[in-house]
Amino acid sequence: MPKRGLFITFEGPESCGKSTQARLLYAYLRKRGLPVVFLREPGGTPVSEKIRKILLSKKNSALTAAAELFLYMASRAQVVEQVIAPALRRKKIVLCDRFLDSTIVYQGYGLGIDIALIQRMGVFATGGIAPDLTILLDAPLKASLAKIGSVKDRIELRSLAYHQRVKTGYFRLARRQPGRIKIVRLAQDKAQTQAVIRGHVDRLLKKG
Ligand code: TMP
Repeated sequence: MPKRGLFITFEGPESCGKSTQARLLYAYLRKRGLPVVFLREPGGTPVSEKIRKILLSKKNSALTAAAELFLYMASRAQVVEQVIAPALRRKKIVLCDRFLDSTIVYQGYGLGIDIALIQRMGVFATGGIAPDLTILLDAPLKASLAKIGSVKDRIELRSLAYHQRVKTGYFRLARRQPGRIKIVRLAQDKAQTQAVIRGHVDRLLKKG
């Protein structure tokens, strides 16, 4: 058991398989009897889920880039204070489907908002809480986008060029922080991908 709580995040472009893999990891850690909390961003609290609805609704096409950035950060500030920080203080393992890296790539690299500004806002929204490990799922972009189907949300509706910038942004982040961000290529078989992820998590648990 780790001496303190561990914070593990999942990241990746649209429909890259990260939510499925995060759920499989959650089940694995629960089965091992470890205290684990699983949530998604934006979301994870009633207020954050309401903000998620605003962010993803196609009806809100008028939302400006700045408003979008503040809403993602607002949702994060809420879930950090209400759920993530208390769970880590209680030495739990927190699994989060997306976190601040998503804002850096979707609003920073994707929309062109200053990344240094996003990082400063991120420190305020998170109270300085950062992941110990981030699993970045890598899957072919066009095939992933094709999986979405006809009902797309506000972000999924963005152009291929936008989603390409998001993906490139993720790889830039991973190159800069290879200790924290582990790129896991999606294998044909879900279980094979999960085994690689468990390898990274088991190493982190051993380190405590
Ligand atoms: P999800 O569908 O993976 O749960 O994520 C919700 C959408 O919100 C997805 O399109 C990525 C996007 N997003 C951002 O643009 N910025 C963020 O900070 C986060 C957390 C998600």
